[in-house]
Amino acid sequence: MKQKGIGTECAHNDTHEIMEHAHILPIFATSTFTFDDAAQGMERFSGKTEGYTYSRFGNPTTSAIEQQLARLEAHGLKNENGSRLELRALLHASGQSAMATMFLSNLKAGDCILSDHSLYGGTHEFLHSFLPQFGIKAIFADMNDLDLVEEVLQKNAAIRLLNLETPSNPTMQCVDIKAACDLAKKYNKKVTVDNTVATPYLQQPFAYGADFVFHSTTKFLNGHGSSIGGVLIGRDIEFMKTKAYNTYKLLGATSSPFDAFLLGQGIKTLPMRMEKHCSNAMLVANFLSGHPAVNKVYYNGLPGHPGYAISIQQMKRPGSLMSFELKGDITKAIQFIDKLKICVRAVSLGTTDTLISHPASMSHSGMPRDLRYKAGISDSLVRMSVGLEDVDDILNDLEQALQ
Ligand SMILES: Cc1ncc(COP(=O)(O)O)c(C=O)c1O
Repeated sequence: MKQKGIGTECAHNDTHEIMEHAHILPIFATSTFTFDDAAQGMERFSGKTEGYTYSRFGNPTTSAIEQQLARLEAHGLKNENGSRLELRALLHASGQSAMATMFLSNLKAGDCILSDHSLYGGTHEFLHSFLPQFGIKAIFADMNDLDLVEEVLQKNAAIRLLNLETPSNPTMQCVDIKAACDLAKKYNKKVTVDNTVATPYLQQPFAYGADFVFHSTTKFLNGHGSSIGGVLIGRDIEFMKTKAYNTYKLLGATSSPFDAFLLGQGIKTLPMRMEKHCSNAMLVANFLSGHPAVNKVYYNGLPGHPGYAISIQQMKRPGSLMSFELKGDITKAIQFIDKLKICVRAVSLGTTDTLISHPASMSHSGMPRDLRYKAGISDSLVRMSVGLEDVDDILNDLEQALQ
């Protein structure tokens, strides 16, 4: 059958055949599943036959969304034999747990990760402070400096994995995924990409050679701020079925079926939402960059941003997250945030309404100050996830708060 469009893939997350022809994906609110006899239970547990056993190990509602997310990341892509790319997804209770499954299933004591330093605060803290307790070390480098990356790879045979977040939260730094994957392959390393900020609608890291993608589905994929969730998606099906699945089960990182349902409702409108998010964001970024109270705008859709050229190469459009530095110190940022009337004061991103936060004291407060500054997160930096409101209302609100 001809490949469906990505909008169609988003609009359909139902699986009529296995769900009694329900039109909308049902919520399987059950912790466990019954067996016809003991032998069936034994066979399912041993993996000899497929079938649900216990909702921490898998549930029909979460499976439907896992399959949909795998289809979205693989949309239109081919494998090395020229057939449709097959991916496997595991739906998690949060983006943080999807990221933890990814690292813990790939690494053991003595191994190293090479990561770009521009990351979401929780990922940075996990790599910088948490994993070292288990003998796993992270080395941070600018992943666009390919000579440096190659030098680090040559010097550190213990590196197993390259970790990218592109565009990154909050400064929208972009990494050339293909260049990083080509280099990683030369040294037989795997590459993982946090695709939260872009979503599979705007960017598909598997097209450029990534081995794993993870998302905080809490953000644009859910799109309505109604649940916390995450997904880990992998190219190596056997690895996903064994090592990744085992780690996920043992961590107990499974999504609840109710959260999976809410996520599925959000995915249906992903393309339309992303288009409007991007159009509004471009207008907001242009407004902010011309404003006398603003020192610097970090948005990869602006030609002056270091990620601009890479974005054009690997993204459909630049997304809706941005940050900007106000002239002055932290007090200016606080005064500005407190004056907002329409934009909402809250962390998170990707909801229908515009969210504004202060990374230095909120999402990135767990990062050591010197590393935070190095990543461009100054005390007067404000993060903005541009929503779907009438853009004039957003601009008027920003104007009055910047006065
Ligand atoms: C880019 C990115 N990755 C991962 C996470 C973690 O996701 P969650 O909060 O769903 O655990 C976040 C959260 O803000 C994020 O912005």
